[in-house]
Formats: sequence, C-alpha cells, structure tokens
Amino acid sequence: MDEIHLPLAAQKMEAHRHHNDDNDDDEEEEHFHQVCRSYQQYATFHQTIQQGVNQRVERLLAKSQGQEDGGKPGPTISSILPLSMMPHHVESHRQNKAFCEATVRNQFFLDSVLRYSGVMTSQEVLKEMQQSKRRRSIEWATEDQMSKIDSVLKSVARDWSAEGSHERSVVYDRMLMALEKYLPLCRREKMTTDAGPPRIAVPGSGLGRLAWEIHSKGYSVQGSDFSLPMLLASDFVLNGCAVPDFNTASGDMEGTSVHRWRQFSISPWIAETKNVTTFENRIRTVTVPDVDPSSIQNIAGSSETAPEFTMLAGEFLSLYSSFLPQKQAHHECMDKNHSHQHSSGEKFHGIACSFFLDTAPSLPDYLITIYHMLVDGGLLLHFGPLMYHWSGHGALLPRDLDNGNENCEMNSRYHGRNSFLDGRYLSSVDFTWLEVREMIVNAGFEILEEEIDIPANYTANRHSMMEVLYKCVFLVAKKKNAQQ
Ligand SMILES: C[S@@+](CC[C@H](N)C(=O)[O-])C[C@H]1O[C@@H](n2cnc3c(N)ncnc32)[C@H](O)[C@@H]1O
Repeated sequence: MDEIHLPLAAQKMEAHRHHNDDNDDDEEEEHFHQVCRSYQQYATFHQTIQQGVNQRVERLLAKSQGQEDGGKPGPTISSILPLSMMPHHVESHRQNKAFCEATVRNQFFLDSVLRYSGVMTSQEVLKEMQQSKRRRSIEWATEDQMSKIDSVLKSVARDWSAEGSHERSVVYDRMLMALEKYLPLCRREKMTTDAGPPRIAVPGSGLGRLAWEIHSKGYSVQGSDFSLPMLLASDFVLNGCAVPDFNTASGDMEGTSVHRWRQFSISPWIAETKNVTTFENRIRTVTVPDVDPSSIQNIAGSSETAPEFTMLAGEFLSLYSSFLPQKQAHHECMDKNHSHQHSSGEKFHGIACSFFLDTAPSLPDYLITIYHMLVDGGLLLHFGPLMYHWSGHGALLPRDLDNGNENCEMNSRYHGRNSFLDGRYLSSVDFTWLEVREMIVNAGFEILEEEIDIPANYTANRHSMMEVLYKCVFLVAKKKNAQQ
C-alpha cells in the first residue's frame, strides 16, 4: 500500500498555503494542541464526570438521611436506590472499577494514536507534570472538545469493527458495486487516456474505511477530511496498526514484509448516559480494526500503474478549488511543488460521497467543484441524508428587520446578534432532495441510478433504547461530455 500523506504534515502545509499571517498560524498551532490535549485528557475527563455522578448520589442520600430521621414509614431514597449506586457497596465498587477500566482501555487506544503521531501520550504528560518542579496550571478540554473524541471512538467502531459491518455495508457495498458496474477496472481505457487505474476521490473520508475498500478493489484513491481528531485516528488505523513481526520461524526478516497487526479493544459508548439499557451495554467493547489495514495486496501491474492511496488534510473547497476554471490560470503561476495542486490531467474518474454532501455550508459550491474535479463521463456517487450540518442557527428574525433594511447582508442587528457564530451558519441554505437533484442535473450530470428511503444508521449503538434511522438517498450520476 502506498504511503499515506501524513495528515499532520498536510495540515501544516495547508495552513502555510492559505494563511500567510502569523495569527492564523498561531490559531492552527493552538487548534493542534487543543486536539492533543483532548486526546490526552480523555480518561481523566470521563472519570471525573463519573465522580460527579457519585457525588450527586451522595447528596441525594444525605438529603434522604434527614427525612428518614423523622421515622416516617414508606420508601426512602436510600431504601430504593439500586445497590450499584450505593456508595461503599460491593456492586457500586465493581461498576466504578469497570467504568474506570473502560476509560483506560479507550485511553490506551488514543495514546497509541498520539504516540504514532509523535505526540506525548497521557502517561508522558502525567510524568512530565510529576517531575516538573514548577506547578503548572492545567488547561482542561471542554465538554464540547471532548465530545469530538467520543465521536472519533464511535467512528472507529463504525469503520473498523465487525459490529459496524452492517452499517457500512448499506453504504459502502452500494458504492463499490456502482464503481464496478460503471467504472470497471478492465474497461478503464474508455474513461481515461492516462496510465493507471481510475482515480476516485473520497471527500469527508472520516476514518477512511470506504477509501480503503475502494483502493482494495484496485482503484487509485484520494481520501480527504478536515477534522484533525478524525485525521489523527485514521492515519493511525491505516498506517500504524501494522508492526514488524520478529517472531517468525525463519528468523530472516531482511527484504520481507512480514508483519502482524495490532488490534485494540475499545468501549465507544461510555459517554452515553441516556437510553442505556444496562451498565454492561454502556461499557461493552468492540475490537478494532477488524481487518489488517495493510493487507491490501499489490494489484498486478507495473509500479507506474499500481493504484495509489493518499489522504489529504484540509477543507474540501480549499483542497479542490484549484480545479475551478477561474483558479486554473492562477494556479499555473503558483509553485508547482505544492502537493495539493491539481492539473486537469489529474482529474478524477469518480467521487464517492458517503454522508458528505450535507456537510456543505453551500451545496451549490460543492456541486460545482465536484463537476470540475471529474473527467467527462466521470461519476458522482452520493449516499446520505440531508442533515445540513451548518443549518439551524442564525435565522433572520422579524425584529432584525425593524429598521426597515431588508438586505440581511447589511443588517447590522442581525450580524451583531449572531457575531459569535461561525460565518458558515449564516450562509447555509437547506435544499430539499428534489432541489439537490435538480442542481445536479443542471450542473451537467445524467442520473444513472437513484434509490430513496434506504434505511441507514450512522455510528449507532445497537443496544441503545433510541435509534436514529435515516432514510437515505443513493445516487449515481455521470458527468456529461462538454458537447452533450
Ligand atoms: C458524517 S461524516 C462521514 C464520514 C464518512 N464518509 C462515513 O461515511 O463514515 C462527515 C465527514 O466529513 C468531514 N467534513 C465535513 N465537512 C468537511 C469539509 N468541508 N471539508 C472536508 N471534510 C469535511 C467531517 O470531518 C467528517 O469526517
């Protein structure tokens, strides 16, 4: 398997390319440290939350003590509380211990990710603090920041555990079948004149399994994502789980690629406290990865035509806007060594969007970029709901128009009221599926396949008392030739 562009290196490149100003570099740096802190503080954070719950129970009991002293008959808090919640009870100790072990299990995985990225692990941070003469105040991750790490663990379970296989197959199998049907490897000469297998982009690739699955069939794949917590974990799973095996019988490792792959036991749902049936369900484990990520066999062919696999770190429009006609001329003048620079010769033969299109703050911009990224006849594959990630905040309210100015761009009250929001919330428009479909056709695509109402989960906990079931659309569309 080809080496993946290290997300962090790419992230830094991206930062240098787009932000020449020191403040932006500082922001990138701070964001990186903040994400690492969240990774490092994971177990402490969740153990502290659990201590908080225990304290609340103790306060309830203390309150109940006062009531019981009155000697009134009937149930009291201490008489009805489950044993697992009674401080000092053996069952409560057992559960606290099991919970603590689950946090340590997850921390072990997260520390392995950090170590692979050359960042201090939670244990190393602790050791450094103990050795330090000076007492430093600790900057703790916020609940919001930690929820991103909880999401990473759930995404690892979706993409790389046997338990996630049903969730994956609903989406990824459709994508793979459509690629094999409309872009079969043996007929690639019809699609492209360049050597090598068809090139497929997987934007918003998350933990990377779809990109990996497509690559394992023999396609060249370029995954991309802008979330640093996700990128750190995907880089580790894809590249860091294989370790050289020195215990082979032959003892001669030279020139061979004998390795074993590490698997981890993680408890991805410990942060969930609502709709939990049993404590055991909350801490239950999955094993990741369920396959050896480095097991992709080298597909036959000369080294020049072997399929490539790369991952880019960065925002979709920033990474691929160089394909837009207005940017092409500008980019020809830029330093040719920039890795993200794309010439029209490197256009893609397919773009596989799984749960991605609705992440757009401006869907028309995504669609136009996708159009220009594709060769004539290239495929857009889309699977997902329409959650519109940037929707639901910053609505224009009647009182914003009180001053009579109907132009929301100019309305200072509106902007003042929403100044704390990311600007993308203020530009997001929610389109219906029919409207999205119409835009795809208007952009110059022919719809080859369309399936609606496909039930699909996303990072679901199958033992939860609540299930979010999306009724997704699957679409395969072909970019028409310019003449058509
Ligand atoms: C809902 S997840 C889907 C992940 C994966 N495709 C899957 O099906 O499991 C959306 C992914 O897109 C990424 N993402 C969202 N907006 C993005 C953008 N503008 N540029 C790059 N990545 C983006 C997120 O970080 C996240 O990993």
